[in-house]
Amino acid sequence: MAGEVIDGRFASHPPAELLIDRNAIERRIDELGTELAEMFGDGPPPVLVGVLKGSAMFLADLIRAMNIDVVVDFMSISPYSHAGVVRILKDLDEDIRDKDVVIVEDIVDTGLTLNYLRKTLSQREPSSMRAVTFLDKTARRIIPVPLEFSAFEIPDVFVVGYGLDFQGLYRNAADILAVRDLARLANEPRLLVPQIFGLKDG
Ligand code: IMP
Repeated sequence: MAGEVIDGRFASHPPAELLIDRNAIERRIDELGTELAEMFGDGPPPVLVGVLKGSAMFLADLIRAMNIDVVVDFMSISPYSHAGVVRILKDLDEDIRDKDVVIVEDIVDTGLTLNYLRKTLSQREPSSMRAVTFLDKTARRIIPVPLEFSAFEIPDVFVVGYGLDFQGLYRNAADILAVRDLARLANEPRLLVPQIFGLKDG
């Protein structure tokens, strides 16, 4: 099922703009969880593979919206280098042979990471493989990788919050914010702290 399309027009001047608020996230994940649970029905528990670290929040909310038994596992891979090389930093604990696998991603951007994961995990002969992403940046896709479910489709903007980070920061923001000036944020990584966390800092 295609993701809900989000229009990312910027309204005014704060360093980041609210793109998807926490209520919309909750509603959409409830829908997606119900859809996934219905798909697996009374069959054996699917293995949901969270891709660290960005998908942690999404996975936690998604499985609680699925009213069926599931198995949870995690993988961590290094970001794609310019040479196109990826390494597994943490592999699965579970044997996924003959299991129904769902890869749970935070965001699919170029598609390189998901493509690598699908290829690597399919060599282990699961009985089925699907992918679900919280955000889908379709405009930036380099590789047309299959993506069965997405919560939201977003435009080509850099976002933080709900698991997504900039230099390790902002994962715990409850909403999704679009960064207006990425160059400025690169110079001042904590620029968004006052806006996101109020008076706690900045
Ligand atoms: P892909 O391999 O290009 O699809 O990229 C996937 C990874 O890039 C994601 O798992 C994120 O870690 C990172 N990424 C891509 N776009 C964003 C963004 O807008 N905010 C934060 N991280 C991003």
